[in-house]
Amino acid sequence: MIRVSIVGASGYTGGELLRLLLNHPAVEIAQVTSNSNAGKFVYQVHPHLRPAMSRRLDLRFTTEDTLASCDVLFLALPHGEAQRRIEHYAGLAERIVDLSADFRLNDADTYARYYGGAHTAPEWLERFVYGLPELYRDALRGARYASGVGCNATATLLASWAAVKAGFVPADQTLIADLKVGSSEAGKSPTESSHHPARAGVVRPFQMTGHRHEAEVHQALASCGNYDVRIALSSVELVRGAAAAVHVTLPTGLSDRDLWAAYREAWRDQPFIRVVHEKTGIHRHPEPRLLAGTNFADVGWEYDPASGRAALLCAIDNLGKGAAGTAVQCMNLMCELEETTALTFGGIYP
Ligand SMILES: NC(=O)c1ccc[n+]([C@@H]2O[C@H](COP(=O)([O-])OP(=O)(O)OC[C@H]3O[C@@H](n4cnc5c(N)ncnc54)[C@H](OP(=O)(O)O)[C@@H]3O)[C@@H](O)[C@H]2O)c1
Repeated sequence: MIRVSIVGASGYTGGELLRLLLNHPAVEIAQVTSNSNAGKFVYQVHPHLRPAMSRRLDLRFTTEDTLASCDVLFLALPHGEAQRRIEHYAGLAERIVDLSADFRLNDADTYARYYGGAHTAPEWLERFVYGLPELYRDALRGARYASGVGCNATATLLASWAAVKAGFVPADQTLIADLKVGSSEAGKSPTESSHHPARAGVVRPFQMTGHRHEAEVHQALASCGNYDVRIALSSVELVRGAAAAVHVTLPTGLSDRDLWAAYREAWRDQPFIRVVHEKTGIHRHPEPRLLAGTNFADVGWEYDPASGRAALLCAIDNLGKGAAGTAVQCMNLMCELEETTALTFGGIYP
């Protein structure tokens, strides 16, 4: 069995990691940390993980200073914490998956520009593989260190990738990614903007320019060209979910068959990408509501052959494919396990 510990396990991504890993046949949970919940059973913080009477689950949170060695360490901490203690963590575990933005960029100057300060462990940036298996699978196989991927970056990248890879998106245009996101993106700490009377029912422009995830999308698309990607983010009435519509101009006169061919070529062998592009019915395009709790990303498009205008679409669960699901997928690859282990839940409807 692979002994796994989670630092920051009382948070939203930590809880989602636990939900997935408790059902992973090759994993034994060694330790879960939360400084503010030390001593509590995990189900007292994550009520959906309450065990049945027949199943003994006596896992309790511990403080981080008692963290012991393990095989794989997941870090689910607020931005900036992992980089400060990365040497310590690396001394405890052979493999690390960090869900924060600390090790997503491979260039320290770019990091400083987007995150407003110098990285405290720049020598570690190139040791981490960008943890999006759909683009970096070979590098992740057997890797020791993987970074998480921003949830908005995940949706933007997976929305754009098939058309970009097929050469349909000229690199001299700006890709505008319109993101609609749910409240769990902000983590568990309440703020004025997450207070129920202020958050319920909103369609609230939240960050229309200068989103940090633009940097990692630009980095990941660099193998196809120097793409200028801009993210505009709005909060909507969802708890889980992110939906991206990336607005681009494609060549005119493409057929639906051309686009299907590009999507098939890009996603043929990917276990967690589903192409959703129906001519009729109400579920013609990717929808985040159908993806809650899953590791799937649904992708699709709408294209006007007369003008070339297109919206490239992707929906995910920000805590699933946007965070914990992909992190477990990375662990499976890093540990040379079957990539889909513990991740095949397909969602619920209605
Ligand atoms: N939420 C998402 O949709 C999402 C998606 C992709 C990536 N991410 C990234 O994943 C990371 C975790 O996000 P989250 O949404 O799970 O956040 P969260 O709900 O706020 O949880 C953060 C966790 O970190 C612990 N913590 C806070 N400050 C700490 C410190 N100084 N030292 C040690 N532990 C500390 C907290 O527990 P205690 O205070 O009890 O110790 C808690 O368990 C973030 O970097 C986020 O950017 C989040």
